Amino acid sequence: MSKIEVGLDSGCAFNKTAFLNEEQEWIENSTPSLVRSGRANITLSGSQGYSYTCEGEQWTTDENAVDAEDTRFDSFSYSTLNTVLTHHTLNKLMTAHDLSNEFSISTGLPLNHYFTEQGVNKNAIQRKQTALLKPVEGSGVNLVCQQICPEGLAGWVDARIDRLGHEKASQSHAVAVADIGGRTTDICVVQPDYSLITEYTSTLSMGCLDIAAEANRLITQRYGVGTINMLAMYQVLASGKIDLGRGKVQDVTGETQQATRTIAGRITREIERLTGKVPHLEGFCYLGGGAEQLKPFLTGDSTYIPERPRFANARGFLKIMQHLS
Ligand SMILES: Nc1ncnc2c1ncn2[C@@H]1O[C@H](COP(=O)(O)OP(=O)(O)OP(=O)(O)O)[C@@H](O)[C@H]1O
Ligand SMILES: [Mg+2]
Repeated sequence: MSKIEVGLDSGCAFNKTAFLNEEQEWIENSTPSLVRSGRANITLSGSQGYSYTCEGEQWTTDENAVDAEDTRFDSFSYSTLNTVLTHHTLNKLMTAHDLSNEFSISTGLPLNHYFTEQGVNKNAIQRKQTALLKPVEGSGVNLVCQQICPEGLAGWVDARIDRLGHEKASQSHAVAVADIGGRTTDICVVQPDYSLITEYTSTLSMGCLDIAAEANRLITQRYGVGTINMLAMYQVLASGKIDLGRGKVQDVTGETQQATRTIAGRITREIERLTGKVPHLEGFCYLGGGAEQLKPFLTGDSTYIPERPRFANARGFLKIMQHLS
């Protein structure tokens, strides 16, 4: 079987993948970036999670883990933890879609890692390539990393060209692109030729995980429950309910809405402040999981949110590898 070409966006909250099936339809998947060091727990129903060994260290990916490692550190993109998550994501993809185990991937780095003031950061790209070469025991996949792209900018490539590489949206002036992720919001101002105006490129330490943290704070304060783990918190955010035990389910939509409004306000004010002085700005493009979650707050003239914005970078990575490199 031939290698499967996949765009893989390795975020600190979720690993997103996008590939085209035989019918040339997008297949998109996401896997939570939840991993902890050590072996899988053995329970009455067998072991929980998947175990991997990388560089002599054991790791378990367990989506119910309450003790998952914090992925919010600066060298996350080059870490063993990230390499393990990449393999885990592809393992799950291979099983779910009955694919060959040979993958050719195009992946990314946050904007502030990919570029320096002087241009493309070749050291960072090399470092990422090296991290992905580390063998991972317990993984059934063979991966070749063919392309490293800048996150955020790749999402804008996805908005401008179709899966065959043809331009689907023209651009005459600069466009501000904000990739609202879990931990960070990457902002860049892109010219029609895909170059960036460097003075407006910025990474904010704010994202959707702050909504979860803020909602967590409000809920624990108000209902006296202990700190809620991240995965449970996603469920609370999605359902607007929390199980207080003894059959009591509490509606917490007030708290989740308040938290979303607070964080959305902080993020959008900062984007406006940063891009306020860009001459001839044609519009704003929002992508990343945050664009989905904060949609009601991302209004205004000339605002564009792509379909399934969580996967825009992953689709863009694949398009760059297939059509722009
Ligand atoms: N359907 C959904 N499923 C999961 N998360 C969602 C969904 N819709 C919106 N979100 C939000 O998207 C956030 C994750 O966004 P995204 O996957 O872009 O982050 P990331 O790329 O992992 O983070 P970063 O870019 O900071 O490393 C989650 O924290 C969640 O709040
Ligand atoms: Mg991201």
